[in-house]
Amino acid sequence: MRKLWTLLLSVFMITTFTACGGPTGASTDKKASTSTPASSESKQTASNTSKTLVVYFSCSGNTKKLAQTAATALNADIYEIVPKKPYTDNDLNYNDESTRATVEQKDDKARPALKDKNANIAAYDKIVIAYPIWWGQAPRIVDTFLESYDFSGKTIAPICTSGGSDVGSSADYLKSITRGSANWKPGKKFSPSASAQELKSLFD
Ligand SMILES: Cc1cc2nc3c(=O)[nH]c(=O)nc-3n(C[C@H](O)[C@H](O)[C@H](O)COP(=O)(O)O)c2cc1C
Repeated sequence: MRKLWTLLLSVFMITTFTACGGPTGASTDKKASTSTPASSESKQTASNTSKTLVVYFSCSGNTKKLAQTAATALNADIYEIVPKKPYTDNDLNYNDESTRATVEQKDDKARPALKDKNANIAAYDKIVIAYPIWWGQAPRIVDTFLESYDFSGKTIAPICTSGGSDVGSSADYLKSITRGSANWKPGKKFSPSASAQELKSLFD
């Protein structure tokens, strides 16, 4: 699978500025658009004592699963990045170069709109940012998120899921566009079913 993605990605890179190719996905989960405790994702935190927030973007559930385990492992709150315009299955079809996700990934200036800007980033010291790899990078909406808040002084741990690719340059790229000077941990790829044990040392 990893070899297949490497091959597909190479084709994508070669053709990015001329034409392109590309995956299939699923529908966007709309729960937890505010920072919420890991144990109760549907309720907004009223009085938050945790200083760690797990932020995630996920279309087909893999990264959401990883984010939920990370939140449990780190005793963190959780916040979902929700697009203003949800991604349809067709938007995520990487076999069609004209579909939304692939078009956005080819354009490093693309900034899909967020449904809300309610993440209470100021309340946290440590932030996990969890995303799927789309054409070797984080989805552009993660760029939108990281440019929409001030991350000065935060410690950020980027983690991802993929169909086989490694984290590659995705975390370094996110670091380069994030607003505010943060302390970044190295990016890491995990299986969606990674254990709490594997995730609890993200900030060590
Ligand atoms: C538009 C798009 C592009 C993708 N590009 C890659 C890629 O370059 N390498 C890879 O290994 N997987 C790629 N994938 C697969 C996803 O990274 C993988 O299925 C991920 O776990 C999906 O996370 P989610 O379920 O949280 O949305 C891509 C998926 C989509 C929809």
